[in-house]
Amino acid sequence: MLSVSTHPLIAHDLTLLRDRQTKPDAFRRALHRISQLLATEATVHLDLKGRSVRTPLEEADGWHLEHPVILVPVLRAGLGMIDAFLDIIPEAHVGHIGLYRNEDTLQPVEYYSKYPDALAAADVFILDPMLATGGSAAAAANILKRQGARRLRLITLVAAPEGVRMMEEMHPDIVIHTASLDHGLNEKGYIVPGLGDAGDRIFGTGSAGA
Ligand code: PRP
Ligand code: URA
Repeated sequence: MLSVSTHPLIAHDLTLLRDRQTKPDAFRRALHRISQLLATEATVHLDLKGRSVRTPLEEADGWHLEHPVILVPVLRAGLGMIDAFLDIIPEAHVGHIGLYRNEDTLQPVEYYSKYPDALAAADVFILDPMLATGGSAAAAANILKRQGARRLRLITLVAAPEGVRMMEEMHPDIVIHTASLDHGLNEKGYIVPGLGDAGDRIFGTGSAGA
């Protein structure tokens, strides 16, 4: 299932991210703001468990999250989203998956992974701003499922229909939250209109796909 945000602040900041003139500092700050809003939208389903609490006056009904939350940014670009998610869910634990796309084949290459133990019991959020061919997101989901993850969501900023299709075929159980569903991919596998190479734009490396 695909959920495309209609939040006006997300539309506003996404335009800043798309603008080729936006420098890494402003890019990181806008990505942080959008990620906070996406985190809010993507967590409305979380299960709660009752827990009573004593106010200064009397006993009151209260709630806490039923399941632990694990956030998994896909390196590098997912790092631009992690602090915003931790702002919203401070008790979350964090795993990391390192993947890069081979520029010729567009296939993901895994170079790092480390995650908390409780994957099977947790609500797991994969963070990666770009869903292009879908290869990286599908690989990240495979890695996490092999380690026992069962309740997964994918949070992206910009998605291409090709990537959404791959995820729906390989991981129909995973809900995808995105700020935008763009037109498609160009001949180099970049999302159009997109925002270029997210990692390069966050960290000021390379030519960002231009
Ligand atoms: C980008 C992006 C995704 C991937 C999406 O990472 O952050 O992980 O490309 O493309 P796909 O859907 O076709 O797999 P990239 O490979 O550029 O690595 P980087 O973040 O380290 O620059
Ligand atoms: N990865 C990016 O960072 N941007 C794209 O447009 C496609 C893949």
